[in-house]
Amino acid sequence: MKQFTSVHDVEDIKALVAAALALKESPYAHQGLGKNKTIGLVFLNPSLRTRLSTQKAALNLGMNVMVMNMDKEGWALETQDGVVMNGGTVEHIREAAAVMGQYCDILGLRSFPKLQSKEEDYSEDFFNKFISYCGVPVVSLESATRHPLQSLTDLVTISETWKGVAKPKVVLAWAPHIKALPQAVPNSFSEWMCKAQQEDLLDFTIVQPKGYELNEDFTPGAAISYNLDEALEGADYIYVKNWSSYKEYGKVLTYPEGWMLTNEKLKGTNDAKVMHCLPVRRDLELSSEVLDGPNSLVIHEAGNRLWAAQAVLKQLLENL
Ligand code: CP
Repeated sequence: MKQFTSVHDVEDIKALVAAALALKESPYAHQGLGKNKTIGLVFLNPSLRTRLSTQKAALNLGMNVMVMNMDKEGWALETQDGVVMNGGTVEHIREAAAVMGQYCDILGLRSFPKLQSKEEDYSEDFFNKFISYCGVPVVSLESATRHPLQSLTDLVTISETWKGVAKPKVVLAWAPHIKALPQAVPNSFSEWMCKAQQEDLLDFTIVQPKGYELNEDFTPGAAISYNLDEALEGADYIYVKNWSSYKEYGKVLTYPEGWMLTNEKLKGTNDAKVMHCLPVRRDLELSSEVLDGPNSLVIHEAGNRLWAAQAVLKQLLENL
């Protein structure tokens, strides 16, 4: 693996999941691998889990870690070529990314979408420019359209906890929110689950109100539903997440009542485990009774962020 920006960078998802679970058993087995290697984690947006789990993953591998909160501590970046920089931007991404590449063997980058222009966000212009100018392998810490470290974690968590004989039914369920949130987590979750479905590991359904359909590029082979109760029938895993509209880009649309997951809604499932990437707004996006109940996997899932990140960094270090 030369970089980690989506499922398409991974040769063998089953092997990567197995590597993450092996690291969970023996976290310090490869401490020599990262000796004298440095990772720089560059954040243009807030983070709790991604920042701490990726730092810890790098430390477990013996790496040095530097964190740059670019939005608060860095110079305002220009991304367009051919502009006279006589406005608010101070440094061009060409120099900024290249300089960070001088100090680091691997770089991680978080850069959320602005949710103003579908074309701009889905071109991943900022992310791609950063990759092309920094000159070292890049790990996505969440881009405008994807969050692959989260999605790998989610596949690890499902693989680790599924004890059934048949394939599990996994449902990505849209949930309410007051703010317009990116499509990165659901896009990425769908992309990874579709790949796992192709490999016969699970069956995958997406349920959402009309108008919240994801970009079809991220949903090949997924069953699509608009009825939450029907979609949850027989579900083994429910992945709860809000996202803003892709069609009416970045908008919060009106939707019918009854989209928040409750214990009542769990009754039609196969005693489904409930997942969420966090942070979550209690009793808006997901009910407290489910979050605090026996079906919730959210803390276990967040814990697995460490092993997913460590598996990815290990592969990148082995290919340096
Ligand atoms: N799930 C996730 O990426 O959490 P943070 O935004 O806190 O990193």
